[in-house]
Amino acid sequence: MVKARIPTFPKILVTSAAGKTGMPLTFQLLEQGYPVRAFVRRRDARADALANAGAEIFEGDQYCLSDMRRAMTGVQRAYQCAPTAPNGLHFNAVFTAAAFEAELEHVVTLGQWLSSADHPSLFTREVYLGDILIRMSPKMSVTSVNPGWFADNYLMVLDMAAHLGLFTMPLGDGDTKKNAPPSNDDIASVAAAALIDPGTHAGKTYRPTGPELLSPNEIAAAMGRALGRKVKYMDISEKMMIKALRALPPSNYSEAAVSQLAIYAEEYRRGSFAVNAPTRDVELVGGRTPEDFESIVRRRVAARPDLRASLPRQLCAVRDFAKILLTQPLDLNKVQAERDYVRLREPRFCQDTPEWLRTHAPRGTALQSGRVA
Ligand SMILES: NC(=O)c1ccc[n+]([C@@H]2O[C@H](COP(=O)([O-])OP(=O)(O)OC[C@H]3O[C@@H](n4cnc5c(N)ncnc54)[C@H](OP(=O)(O)O)[C@@H]3O)[C@@H](O)[C@H]2O)c1
Repeated sequence: MVKARIPTFPKILVTSAAGKTGMPLTFQLLEQGYPVRAFVRRRDARADALANAGAEIFEGDQYCLSDMRRAMTGVQRAYQCAPTAPNGLHFNAVFTAAAFEAELEHVVTLGQWLSSADHPSLFTREVYLGDILIRMSPKMSVTSVNPGWFADNYLMVLDMAAHLGLFTMPLGDGDTKKNAPPSNDDIASVAAAALIDPGTHAGKTYRPTGPELLSPNEIAAAMGRALGRKVKYMDISEKMMIKALRALPPSNYSEAAVSQLAIYAEEYRRGSFAVNAPTRDVELVGGRTPEDFESIVRRRVAARPDLRASLPRQLCAVRDFAKILLTQPLDLNKVQAERDYVRLREPRFCQDTPEWLRTHAPRGTALQSGRVA
């Protein structure tokens, strides 16, 4: 239930408000009585849901400085969330310039657990730079929320699990390669706490995770229990993942984004998402018990009646599988070269980077530690 507004509450701008974390964040802030301006690309059902919950809708282009300036007028705090899309640094520069001009008091930025200076992923290096830029104003405080691989990523292949009993991702060995996946709502809860109480959270960096490390086989088993059928993990090649991302909805990733997701899968196989996970940030900062993966899948299954087994749906899944096989793979090097991506002579994955290892050492709230293969 939405609480009555208290006029003295600061107004909060949520960018990417129709996205995975922006939507639950907007709902959570409204529930706590905070006025929220929700930055959306267009007026659609998601924007209507945000408006019905009490958000003020700002429709615009969040890569456009003039729009961002208008969106920040009369706002005191903001959530900085670059879409998973090209030009992240441009978004971050636009956001930072507008935030500086609007003299915001506090920003919560959604970064990445992988964030490092020399990372092979351009998107990740842009996140790293964006984090430095937003912290340069002495008058504006910042909290960084740096999650790893979202639980939501696994749900991209839920149709295949529901109708063919296969959990297909290039995550390496089914027993050893682990992640503690956070739900979108739990990530949002940490951001909400930091936006509401800058006094406590300014200058801090958090890493929301799910409650436990799970292997791909355990992820498949949890999907199976939620779907009421046996689901088997299939370690597919990177080439196959790229074909699947290109062939099937709901993925709306550009070729450029796909090239970066392939690098994140490599980090997954290297064990970087398992380092120092799980943390207690969702519980201690977000104030809630982190949602376990099976519950996250159950929620999605409940919202999607089309995941129920039926012969026509199974045939559609077989057709989709054939479509993936027939889709042309992408030459990722060519994709990056064609876009004139800035590329480093000696890029380094996280666990090969001394600065990343030093800055990602266990903290008070981390439950486990150590280099993970
Ligand atoms: N997924 C992961 O595992 C993971 C892990 C760590 C960090 N992250 C970080 O998470 C961030 C993405 O957060 P998210 O998943 O919450 O966001 P998201 O779901 O990608 O949402 C982005 C939103 O921005 C909107 N948008 C795109 N271009 C726009 C434009 N020009 N003007 C206005 N709106 C625009 C999109 O609209 P449409 O929906 O209409 O396209 C979408 O609603 C990235 O910065 C990524 O680095 C992700």
